[in-house]
Amino acid sequence: MLSLAETDLNAYHVIEFSLSGKTILITGASSGIGRETAIMLTRAGASVIITGRDCGRLGATFESLVLQPDATAAQYVADLTAEAEMDSLISAMPVLNGIVHCAGIVGPLPVKFITQPDIDMMFAINYHVPVNLTSKLLRNRKVANGSSLLFMSSIATRNPYFGGALYSGSKAALEAYSRTLALELVQKHIRSNCIQAGLVDTPMIVGTSEGNMQAEAHERYLKRYPLGIGQPANVAQTILYFMSDASKWVTGTSLIMGGE
Ligand SMILES: NC(=O)c1ccc[n+]([C@@H]2O[C@H](COP(=O)([O-])OP(=O)(O)OC[C@H]3O[C@@H](n4cnc5c(N)ncnc54)[C@H](OP(=O)(O)O)[C@@H]3O)[C@@H](O)[C@H]2O)c1
Repeated sequence: MLSLAETDLNAYHVIEFSLSGKTILITGASSGIGRETAIMLTRAGASVIITGRDCGRLGATFESLVLQPDATAAQYVADLTAEAEMDSLISAMPVLNGIVHCAGIVGPLPVKFITQPDIDMMFAINYHVPVNLTSKLLRNRKVANGSSLLFMSSIATRNPYFGGALYSGSKAALEAYSRTLALELVQKHIRSNCIQAGLVDTPMIVGTSEGNMQAEAHERYLKRYPLGIGQPANVAQTILYFMSDASKWVTGTSLIMGGE
C-alpha cells in the first residue's frame, strides 16, 4: 500500500514525462530510431506528425502508433532534400511543441575516394535538411514557445571510424548548429539538443563497414560496447525525455549514448 506522499511523488513523475497535449514532428519515421520514437511518443500521450520517403514503411509505422485518448496522428511522404516537398510538409504543419530530426544516411567512404557529389549527398540530408526545415518552421511561426528540438548525431563525431569522414563531418556540423540554435532561441524557452548515439541495431548499420564484418572482427567491435549494441527503443526513451518537460532545464547539449 502506497503512502499519500509516495502517491504524490508517482503522480509528479508521470506528469513531468507525459507528452499529453504536445504535438511533435518526427522525420525519418519510416525506419529504425525514428519509427520506434514515433511509437514511444504516442504511448506517452503525444500527437505526432510522421514523415519519411517510403510510403509503405511510413504506413507501417503509422499503423503501429499507440494513440492515447484525444491525441492525433498524421503521415506525410516526402523526400526532404526536394525543396518543394519540404515546403508542402511545412504548409501542412500545425504549431509544434517538438521536432525530432532522425532522417539521415550513412555511407562509408575512405577519404581518398571522396568526390564533390559524395559531399553534397551526405550533407544534403544530414545537415541541410534539418537546418532548412528548422529555419522554415521558425519563420512560418510553427514552433511554439517552450518547444524542444532534438537532432540525431553520432558518437562518430568524437571517435573516428574508417570511412566515416563525411558522415562524422556532417553530424559535427549539426552539433555546432544545434548549440547556436540553443543560444538564439533560449529567450523563447525553446531548447535544442543532440544525441551522440553509438551503434544502434537498425537497417542503417547494414550500410556501414560494420554491417559486412567477418565474425572475428565483429566480436572485436562488440568489445567496444560493454553495454551491448543499442536498440532503437534505448534511443527512443531518451528522446521521450528530451521531448518532455522533465528536460526543460537542458539545452545546448550533446548526450553520449552507448559509451563506445
Ligand atoms: N543506427 C545507428 O547506429 C545510428 C547511430 C548514431 C546515429 N544515428 C542517426 O540516427 C538517425 C536515424 O538512423 P537509423 O539508424 O534509424 O536509420 P534508418 O533506419 O536507415 O532510417 C533513416 C530514415 O531517414 C529517412 N531518410 C533518408 N533520406 C531521406 C530523405 N532524403 N528525405 C526524407 N527522409 C529520408 C529514411 O526514410 P525512408 O526509409 O523512407 O527512405 C528513414 O526513415 C540518423 O540520422 C542516423 O545518422 C544512427
